[in-house]
Amino acid sequence: MPSIAEQLSGVLGDAFASLELPRELGRVTPSKQNPERFPFQCNGAMPAAKQAGKPPREIAQAVLDRISGDALIEKAEIAGPGFINLLPAGAAINARAAEIASDDRAGAPQVSEPRKVMIDFGGPNVAKPMHVGHLRSSVLGDSLQRLFRFRGDTVISDIHLGDWGLQMGHLITELEEEQPDLPYFDAAITDGYPSEPPVDIEDLARLYPQASKKAKEDADRLAKSRRATAELQAGRAGYRALLRHFIDVSVAALKKDFGDLGVQFDLWKGESDVNDLIDGLVADFKARGVAEESEGAWVVRVARDGDKKELAPLILVTSEGSSLYGTTDLATILDRKQTVGPDLTLYVVDLAQSDHFEQVFRAADKAGLAPEGSLEHVKFGTVNGTDGKRLRTRDGGTFRLADLIASAIERADERLKEAGLAEDVGAEEHDRVARMVGLAAIKFADLQNYRTTNYVFDLDRFTSFEGKTGPYLLYAAVRVKSLMRRAAEAGVEPGPISAEAAEERDLVLALDAFGAALEQACENRAPNAICDHAFTLAQAFSKFYSACPILSAGTDAVKRSRLALAEATLKQLELCLGLLGLEAPERM
Ligand code: ARG
Repeated sequence: MPSIAEQLSGVLGDAFASLELPRELGRVTPSKQNPERFPFQCNGAMPAAKQAGKPPREIAQAVLDRISGDALIEKAEIAGPGFINLLPAGAAINARAAEIASDDRAGAPQVSEPRKVMIDFGGPNVAKPMHVGHLRSSVLGDSLQRLFRFRGDTVISDIHLGDWGLQMGHLITELEEEQPDLPYFDAAITDGYPSEPPVDIEDLARLYPQASKKAKEDADRLAKSRRATAELQAGRAGYRALLRHFIDVSVAALKKDFGDLGVQFDLWKGESDVNDLIDGLVADFKARGVAEESEGAWVVRVARDGDKKELAPLILVTSEGSSLYGTTDLATILDRKQTVGPDLTLYVVDLAQSDHFEQVFRAADKAGLAPEGSLEHVKFGTVNGTDGKRLRTRDGGTFRLADLIASAIERADERLKEAGLAEDVGAEEHDRVARMVGLAAIKFADLQNYRTTNYVFDLDRFTSFEGKTGPYLLYAAVRVKSLMRRAAEAGVEPGPISAEAAEERDLVLALDAFGAALEQACENRAPNAICDHAFTLAQAFSKFYSACPILSAGTDAVKRSRLALAEATLKQLELCLGLLGLEAPERM
């Protein structure tokens, strides 16, 4: 069954069509003006008036005449210049409520033609610690994969590790300086390397910044890392063996970090996985004239007439023979085409990389690898400190993801104690709740802004149980859960829904808007629509809960109807939380 707004749009669309006006003008949307009396409105009479050359109120009246008596509509009225205000019939509201209550998807539609959607997100780099940018990508990308999957598409998520660039050369050369006797550095040795990794994750975290610092101060040191990178890429056996160790050690640590964050990937591929495709791709680009030689390097020219800003050519192979970030991205597009065949690929990456993706997408289009429009850069803004600048640690470094999460959980723990929550659940359960609240705080704070908006990292605000926050929503769900338990103890079961009070009706209408929010979130690749929806729903429930007693209602029928409404709300709220990657505890 379509939503009430869609059903009304159908009736109004018919009316417009019968007046020989475009059906789309009958589109009905929730109304902001006077939602208590008329929760919906249609604004089609104004554009229709322009087309028909008649006053808008006259058209609105003609539409009204045609819809009068329709079982779906209780009352309709013309307002102002020609707005059509609508109140749906009680029976229609109850029928929709019954459907939402009995549907596993709580009223959310599913796409009729599923697509294969590849989502490239997270993108941590081997050896470099993850920072807030990776947090945004992970939280946003994970929510998007949940949204598209829920909508019915086939989603393949890929972490796309950064494991092929200069940082690998840095690691190799730095390790050689520390432990020159390891077999990996002797070009004469080509196999039989130890299976135990020569480093652990702490070593990697130390080696990279050490080397990168030296390289900044010393051109020879930088040249050495560059050479090692080129030799690694060319296939030097010892370096390849080291790379395998570096990746394995990093991936093990990352799997733990992402697991703690509740973020999952289908593929743990990286830049290095497409190495074998690069030579063929480059040869093909050269042969077909897609790539051109330029000062010893091979480039793809991607600038176009009419560009507002000059877009530099994409460098495919440097004059030293190395491939770069753009090369691996192109080879990855080829790999995905051969192994997955996605209809759409979303890259959830910082908007600072806009030019990079523009270059890659244009080059992919030029080479016939992927048509324009099938690759999309889902951009996001920065996370700032209270000073309005990019979030930094006190000593000016980039924030580590793990520290950020730890501080959110710590603050959540304090908040729970302040609010007297999760006290009698036992220490272990208390810690689990603090985790859920802390993660909900940072994830929701990130997702509730439209993605390109920069926002200020403010744990005090994020962890509050009041206002539009993750913890508020978890608490809202926990309250309904506890109500459901009390109802079960009292032997009350959900029954047929009959929404009589205004608060009951408004709650059904809030539930009814889920599908539209889902569609908007997927369309804009922006989960903030679901954040807004979940918050509106929680508020509608809270109004309903204080105005309409449930277990102490006058009759059994009313008790059971209200309980069914509460149950439907909980189901939909939990679905929303799930789409945002949040989880509500049973109690807190
Ligand atoms: N590793 C990159 C970084 O940290 C992000 C990778 C994004 N994905 C891609 N296909 N380029 O900046």
